[in-house]
Formats: sequence, structure tokens, C-alpha cells
Amino acid sequence: MSQYTPRLSAESLLDKVVLITGGANGIGASLVQQCLQSGANVCFGDLDNISGERLLRISQDQFHPAEEGMPPRVVFQTTDVTNYQSVLALFDLAFETYRRIDHVVSAAGIIEIGNWFDFGLTMQTIRQERQKVTILIKTPTHKVLDVNLLGSMYVSRIASVYLRHNRGPDVDRSILLFSCMAGFKESPSLFVYQAAKHGVTGLMRSLRTYISSPYKHNLRVNTVCPWITQTDSMKKIELQWKQANLPSNTPQEVASVAAGVLTDQSLNGTSMYVEGGRAWEIEQNIDRLEAQWLGETPSKSLAMGQALLDDGAIWTAPPRPRKKSSISNGVPPGVPPQKVKGIHKDSINGVTNGVTNGLTNGAH
Ligand SMILES: NC(=O)c1ccc[n+]([C@@H]2O[C@H](COP(=O)([O-])OP(=O)(O)OC[C@H]3O[C@@H](n4cnc5c(N)ncnc54)[C@H](O)[C@@H]3O)[C@@H](O)[C@H]2O)c1
Repeated sequence: MSQYTPRLSAESLLDKVVLITGGANGIGASLVQQCLQSGANVCFGDLDNISGERLLRISQDQFHPAEEGMPPRVVFQTTDVTNYQSVLALFDLAFETYRRIDHVVSAAGIIEIGNWFDFGLTMQTIRQERQKVTILIKTPTHKVLDVNLLGSMYVSRIASVYLRHNRGPDVDRSILLFSCMAGFKESPSLFVYQAAKHGVTGLMRSLRTYISSPYKHNLRVNTVCPWITQTDSMKKIELQWKQANLPSNTPQEVASVAAGVLTDQSLNGTSMYVEGGRAWEIEQNIDRLEAQWLGETPSKSLAMGQALLDDGAIWTAPPRPRKKSSISNGVPPGVPPQKVKGIHKDSINGVTNGVTNGLTNGAH
């Protein structure tokens, strides 16, 4: 059983500095409050400056610095996570105010806009859309991808640098990304949102050994994957959900799980699925049961390949000059192999047959 129960007190995050994006509403706003209640200083950003300023006033009235002359317990800045400079400016505000950052949470997110795969699209209307692009009407929109995935990538990249400053090597620091149930399971009609949230989970997985490596950054990275939570973004299905008596979270319950993950130094590389106010860690079971869902043989060779690739330095190393490029040696991109002089017809068939046979054999 991988149920996770957050343990929080008034001192769980005492004197820590937490930066939160998407902190003006919903789960992010509850997390701002939860972190303040647990003793942290909070710097939060959001595109919605009206709600952000309102939450700032309420929080500053409620939470005061321990001594006169100390910085305020909470600061806010209008931030657009799809704009790299804007994200940098939020980190600068936190760093200038508190001289360090301990934890970063990427909570900003938006739900699906429109229907990318509308059955009503025809060869005519899809072409008309292309024509519109040339007169600068952007369609189809990729805003959902930009806010949910690109925003998380900007926040993580900048966090990986700022979290290293003004903190000793043994001080716990972490990044927490907001994925979703749609980050690991199918969600019909949430096409772009689901791709983005799978991307967020993938980002965490790609960072969890790399970024936590003591000779690199030594940072923890985790994700929270809530199911339906009672915020404005879920208004459309609220009634149906209630009538079906299905479990839902309050924003405070998800915020408690998130704050718990920030405080628990033993957690790195986890995904906390949150449903009906309770949380379950899913990554450990995915790994533990791999030989069952993937098969023993591929699971073994996969592990050997992973060990060989280690921290992936091979991918990020600067390219070495090659004597012969594979392109000049073989088939230029976009040119049918049959048209390339020197490539024998049999070798083309050999490749095709090899792939087909391999798949067929594998299925038996
Ligand atoms: N509510 C749910 O059921 C649910 C379920 C799974 C995952 N989530 C995820 O949890 C996170 C919080 O969701 P929520 O339900 O509290 O949503 P919400 O709409 O209540 O809050 C999201 C916040 O993000 C802000 N935001 C949007 N675009 C932004 C941008 N470009 N830059 C900065 N801020 C921006 C909004 O202004 C808002 O304050 C999101 O990442 C969401 O995808 C929510």
C-alpha cells in the first residue's frame, strides 16, 4: 500500500522560503496559506493580479514577520509563466526579498481550450485554418501546452539555479510540479491538457535522478497529480460529479499533500495521486511491477540500457565532429530511398522486413 499522509505542524516549514506560481486562486492560493501557516515565507506569482493582490492583503494582515525590520512574510508579483523574463523577475523578487529560496512550486495551470480534434473539421475547414495562420490569426491555439508544460519547464530551469544559491550543501531544497490524473491516465477530450500534464510527469522523471545527484544540484523533485478538485476550473462538471457521488478534493486537501511533500526530505521522484482528500504514491509501484506489465526480458534489458546511459551525460555532451554523416551515407531527409543512387533495393526490403518480422515475432 502506498498511501501517503502528510504530517504538518506550525513549524514544518519554519523560516523556509517558498516560491509558488499560480498562487492567486484555487489550489495555489490554498498552498500559499498552508505554507504561511507552517511557518514559511512565501513569494507567489500569478497572471490574475486582482486575486493575487487580494490574497496578498489578507495574508499580510494575518501573518507578520517575527521582528520589526524583517521582510514581509508574503510577497506577490504579477507573473506570466509562459514568459521567461516574467518568471525570472518573480525569482528575483523572492531572492532580493529573502536572499534565498528553499522550495519552488509550479502550480499555474489552465484546462483545455476548444477542441483540437473536432470531428466537424473537414479538409476544407482545416485548410482555412492554415490560411488564417498566414494572416496572423493563431489557430489552433497551443496556450494550454504553453501554460501547463512550457511554464513548468521555465520554472524548473530557473529554480535549478536559484535553489543552489545562499544555501549550504546539506540544506533540503526541492521543486514540486503540478501534474494531474491526466498526467498518467487517458482523459478523453482533454487532448492538449493531457499531453501537457504527461509532459510535466515526464519532466519530473527526467529530472529526478539527474537533479538530485549530489555532484550536480542535489535537489529533490516531485509531482502532485490531483483528481477532481473543487476549484473554478472544474465548475463545468461539479454538479454531475456530486450527483454521481464520486470523490473530490477540496483545494486545502491538495495543498496539504503538496506542503507535506515539500517538508518530507525523504521524498524524491514521487507522484502523489490525490483523490477524495487522500493521497497515494504511484511511481514506486510502476517501477516495482515493471517486470509484470512490460515482461521480464524487456524489463531486464531496459535496466541494462538505463545503467549504461547513467545520468544521460551522453545526450548533453557537445557533438563531436563526425567523419561521415549518416545522412550523406544513406538517405537524405524527405527523399524516397528508391531514388538514391547506390542504395540497393534488397537492403531497403531488408530493413522493412526486419522491422515487420521483429514485431510479428514479438507478438507470438
Ligand atoms: N482542480 C482540479 O481538479 C485539478 C486537477 C488536477 C490538476 N490540477 C492542477 O492543479 C493546478 C492548480 O489548479 P486549480 O484547479 O487550482 O486552478 P485555478 O484555475 O483555480 O488556479 C490556477 C491559477 O493559475 C493561474 N494562471 C493561469 N495561467 C497563468 C499564467 N500564464 N501565468 C501565471 N499564472 C497563470 C490562474 O490565474 C489561477 O490563479 C493546475 O496546474 C491544474 O492543472 C487541478
